[in-house]
Amino acid sequence: MTAPRAARRTIPLLILLAALPIACGEPGPKPKAGDPPAQAPNATADAGAAPQEPAFLSAEACGRCHGAIYDEWKQSFHGQAMADPLFLELSEDVVNKEECIRCHAPVPLREAQFETPVARASRREDAISCLSCHQDGANIAGPFGGLEGACRPVGDPRQRDVVKICFPCHNQHDTGNEYLAGPYAPEAPLPRQRPAESCITCHMPEVERPLVEGGVVRKGRSHTWRGGHSFAMLEKASALDVEVRPAEGGGFEIEVFVTNRGAGHSIPTDARHRSFDTYIKLWDADGRVVLDPLKRADQERSFLAKFRKFYRGSGKNDTQIPPLARVSTLGEGPGRFTTDLPKGRGEAWLVYRLTPRDALVEDSLKASEGPDDVQDTTVARVVHRVSFTFGK
Ligand code: HEC
Ligand code: HEC
Ligand code: HEC
Ligand code: HEC
Ligand code: HEC
Repeated sequence: MTAPRAARRTIPLLILLAALPIACGEPGPKPKAGDPPAQAPNATADAGAAPQEPAFLSAEACGRCHGAIYDEWKQSFHGQAMADPLFLELSEDVVNKEECIRCHAPVPLREAQFETPVARASRREDAISCLSCHQDGANIAGPFGGLEGACRPVGDPRQRDVVKICFPCHNQHDTGNEYLAGPYAPEAPLPRQRPAESCITCHMPEVERPLVEGGVVRKGRSHTWRGGHSFAMLEKASALDVEVRPAEGGGFEIEVFVTNRGAGHSIPTDARHRSFDTYIKLWDADGRVVLDPLKRADQERSFLAKFRKFYRGSGKNDTQIPPLARVSTLGEGPGRFTTDLPKGRGEAWLVYRLTPRDALVEDSLKASEGPDDVQDTTVARVVHRVSFTFGK
């Protein structure tokens, strides 16, 4: 009986295979240029003696001194961008496609003038490496300046400029533009609805520690980049609430709202295969389940709305939720449910899917296990559940 199982697995994969190259490889809006090209290494140093390349070339070598940062980076999706199971699964013939490698194992951003980078020729296993974000010719650029170390550190304010350091890869699907147009941007209209935040302040939380073992304690940034894979980030990003009102012909109308309360961009953002979906579960007055999102036969009826950036050519309008917006639907699904039961109770669910094939199953209800609880790429996760009652 292996055939049906294999078939079930193949169909969604084919859809993904067909859709993802379009989804991820589109040429995106370019970040604002206007900056002079990265400076030549050691322009002021003695020309004859100037080193031509960085003192350390692999992330592991950086990690020998910057151990804490290395460990975080190694586990992050930047460190894993060439080993991510989803990327590999799709990459049978893609892994050799330069157009995919260019953001997953890129040359240094400064070498690419902070535009969408090109693929690196060597050390592709280092994925988005330390050098991708820090190399400046033979030097290593960082936010501080005036430090001394074997890596030849130099200060560069552009290290904290997210348009330069994040947008070259994260604006192809408008995440950067969504942020700049939103309430957290430095230029948001007054009076501000939210204090300014950036890709860095939200995704690289501040940590006080020495940069190298035994060094001076400094205010630095964690290199974890938690995002959609992290349950804690999904909880922070979203809130769910329910409005119940009597329906016109008797019974009740239940409307379920999602708020983007904590993300600096739309939710979901970036990769087109992700979505936030709402569902409803109902019990009658005798406590019997009458509608259950985990039951295959009920799943379509219990589905309320889908929030997603759809694949190109799907003919659908995007339904992502902008920062601070509270919506029940943006056109994909009714956003509400009418029951003719006179009395009962229910639960609204907010479900997150990394890919359309992620199944809503018993495991989806698993409670959060903290910030490092990373979602499986085949199982949907219930992020929030809200209870309500109707009738007297
Ligand atoms: C312009 C830069 C860029 C290019 C080119 C690019 N990607 Fe990506 N890719 C990204 C970014 C940024 C993310 C993270 C998006 C997110 O987390 O939502 C990503 C995420 C992914 C993911 C999701 C990983 C996960 O676990 O959710 C897959 C799969 C993927 N890319 C495959 C590809 C393939 C296949 C190609 C070539 C057709 C490609 N990418 C080309 C920037 C790029
Ligand atoms: C042999 C030890 C050593 C190695 C290996 C090393 N560094 Fe450093 N690095 C240092 C020291 C020492 C400092 C200064 C620490 C301080 O003063 O707090 C430093 C500082 C830095 C800074 C901060 C610069 C600033 O001014 O903001 C960055 C960024 C950095 N290193 C990145 C790297 C990267 C990337 C690599 C690998 C290519 C690397 N380092 C390899 C020792 C090392
Ligand atoms: C060189 C291209 C590149 C740059 C520069 C870059 N990223 Fe990424 N980022 C990616 C890719 C590719 C992925 C997806 C990797 C994967 O899962 O395969 C990703 C994933 C992420 C994720 C998602 C993690 C998750 O759980 O889904 C976050 C958050 C993130 N990046 C934030 C940032 C921030 C903040 C910056 C700027 C400081 C930045 N990135 C700079 C390419 C880049
Ligand atoms: C996706 C880009 C990116 C990658 C990859 C990356 N860094 Fe950073 N790093 C940054 C940014 C951005 C900052 C500055 C954050 C700030 O201060 O606002 C930073 C800061 C630092 C600092 C200064 C101290 C601190 O904690 O902020 C050191 C040291 C450093 N990085 C080392 C490394 C090493 C070593 C690696 C690889 C193991 C690495 N970085 C990988 C983007 C990156
Ligand atoms: C106010 C805090 C905040 C700011 C600012 C912010 N993010 Fe996020 N980001 C979040 C939260 C919370 C999530 C989790 C929700 C989600 O995955 O949609 C997230 C998710 C992501 C993801 C995963 C994609 C997804 O939808 O699952 C990526 C990639 C990302 N952010 C990149 C960025 C980049 C790049 C910037 C700057 C242009 C940025 N973020 C600015 C809070 C923020």
